[in-house]
Amino acid sequence: MLQLLKGEKEEILACVKEVLGENSKTHENLVPILQQVQKKLGYLPALAMDKIAEGLQVPAVDIYGLATFYNQFRLNPPGKHEVKVCMGTACYMAGGDITLESFERRMEIKEGETSVDRYYSLDRVACVGCCTLAPVAVIDDEVEGKVTPTRVDGIMLALEEDREDNTGGNSGPGEGADHE
Ligand code: FES
Repeated sequence: MLQLLKGEKEEILACVKEVLGENSKTHENLVPILQQVQKKLGYLPALAMDKIAEGLQVPAVDIYGLATFYNQFRLNPPGKHEVKVCMGTACYMAGGDITLESFERRMEIKEGETSVDRYYSLDRVACVGCCTLAPVAVIDDEVEGKVTPTRVDGIMLALEEDREDNTGGNSGPGEGADHE
């Protein structure tokens, strides 16, 4: 599980408190509550699910089960750079799985995960409507076509250069990360 950043714990607790305060704490409201928390935080941290479980007096395991069942919920924070690989039929047939594996290898994470430094997140998506460009990847909302493994290398190089431009090469997790 990814480490919480400095101040993130407080942000999560405040968010859950606010959302629980705006909704009646019934089982029927569980999905809307999860949706609202995700909308505010960008994902559903484990701490938020624990606090929602407490608030609604349901077992936390039920909330985890629900959040993992519906793919609308994301359990990892979005990375600074969000990469989504299309796994629609046309892209899959054109080697989308190889594209995804190439990103996984280069980022050293699996699909659905976020890198420890939160620089990258990698997900699969359904058809994005650019099938003639298959295999397609969406890099921070920009559609890239013909994403062969060589193209993956080029994309990763550009993203790494962006990291160096912004951090002077410091790629470690935030200094003030909460250790829990
Ligand atoms: S299947 Fe990938 S863009 Fe349509």
